[in-house]
Amino acid sequence: MARRVIVDCDPGHDDALAILLAGRRLEVLAITTVAGNQTVEKVTTNALKVVEAAGLTAIPVARGAATPLVRPPRHAPEVHGETGLDGPELPPPRTPVADRHAVDLIVETAMREDDVTLLALGPLTNVALALRREPRLSQRLREICLMGGSTTRGNVTPAAEFNISVDPEAAHAVFTSGVPVRMVGLNVTQQVVATPERRRAVRAAGTRVAVLAADLLEFYSAAIHRLYGLPGGALHDPVAAAALIDPSLVRFAPMHVAVELHGEHTAGMTVCDDRYTRTAPDVPAARRGAPPNAEVAVAVDADRCFDLLLDVLREYP
Ligand code: BDR
Ligand code: CA
Repeated sequence: MARRVIVDCDPGHDDALAILLAGRRLEVLAITTVAGNQTVEKVTTNALKVVEAAGLTAIPVARGAATPLVRPPRHAPEVHGETGLDGPELPPPRTPVADRHAVDLIVETAMREDDVTLLALGPLTNVALALRREPRLSQRLREICLMGGSTTRGNVTPAAEFNISVDPEAAHAVFTSGVPVRMVGLNVTQQVVATPERRRAVRAAGTRVAVLAADLLEFYSAAIHRLYGLPGGALHDPVAAAALIDPSLVRFAPMHVAVELHGEHTAGMTVCDDRYTRTAPDVPAARRGAPPNAEVAVAVDADRCFDLLLDVLREYP
C-alpha cells in the first residue's frame, strides 16, 4: 500500500522531481509550499506548474509561510534561478491555489486522515507552525520524513545544509516535537548525482514528463557543477521521497539530532550523535549522549534510486 503523504516543499528543481516521484508512487493528499529556494509566491507558482505538467491537479496545492520563524528569508537563485525553476518553459498555471493557508491544510488533512506522513523538502517553517497550531498533531502524524541536515558537511556553510540553515528554529521545533523523524541529509543525497550519462537516460525515457525532468536536470546540474564541482545535480529531495517509496533504498540509524542555533560558524548544523545506541548501558550518562530522537540516513543505493526515478518517468503518459 502506498504511503499517504503531505508534501511540504519549495520547488526548486529537486523538489519538482520529488513531486513527480511521489505523484505516482505515494498517495499524495496535499502539496504545501514554503519560502526557501525562492519566495513563497514563486515556489507556489512552480508547484502548480509541476502538478499541471504531470496531470496531478487533483492534489490541492496550498501556499504557506513567506518567512522563517525568526530569521530573515534567504533564497537560492544561484542554484534554482530567478523563478526558482529556471530552465524548462512551462505555461503559467491555470489551476488555482487552495483557498486556505498551508498550515491549515496540513492540520486539517492530518487530523482527518489516519496514518499521514509529512514529507518535508524545504525549510521546516510550515511544519513547526502546524505543530504549534494543533498540539494533537504530534500524536496524529505517522512520521516526518525530511530532507535536510547532514551527518558530515553542509552545503551553504561548511557546517549547515540549506533547509535547516534557513530556519533552524523551526528545525529545532521539529526534532524536539516527539514525532518520529527521519532525516535524509546531504551525507546520502550528495551520493545520488545526475551525471551526464544519467541525464541522457532521463531524456531517452521519452515521455513528456521525462523531457521536463531532463530540462530541469540540465539547468540544475549546470548550477551545481559551477558551485560545487560535482558532475551533476544531487537528487536531494527525490532521495527523501524514495526512502518512503522503497525502504530498501536508504538505510537509517538511530541518533540524537540537535540543531545548532547560536554557533558563529555552525548555525544551522545538525549535530548527530549515535553514541547512545552504541555504548554499553552502564556507561555514565554524560558519556552516552542523549537518547535518539530521529532515524538518520546513513547509506543509499544510488543506482537503484536513479532507476526508480527512470521507471516512474517512463510511466507518465
Ligand atoms: C535542499 O535545499 C534546496 O535547495 C533543495 O531543494 C533541497 O531541498 C538541499 O540542501
Ligand atoms: Ca527543497
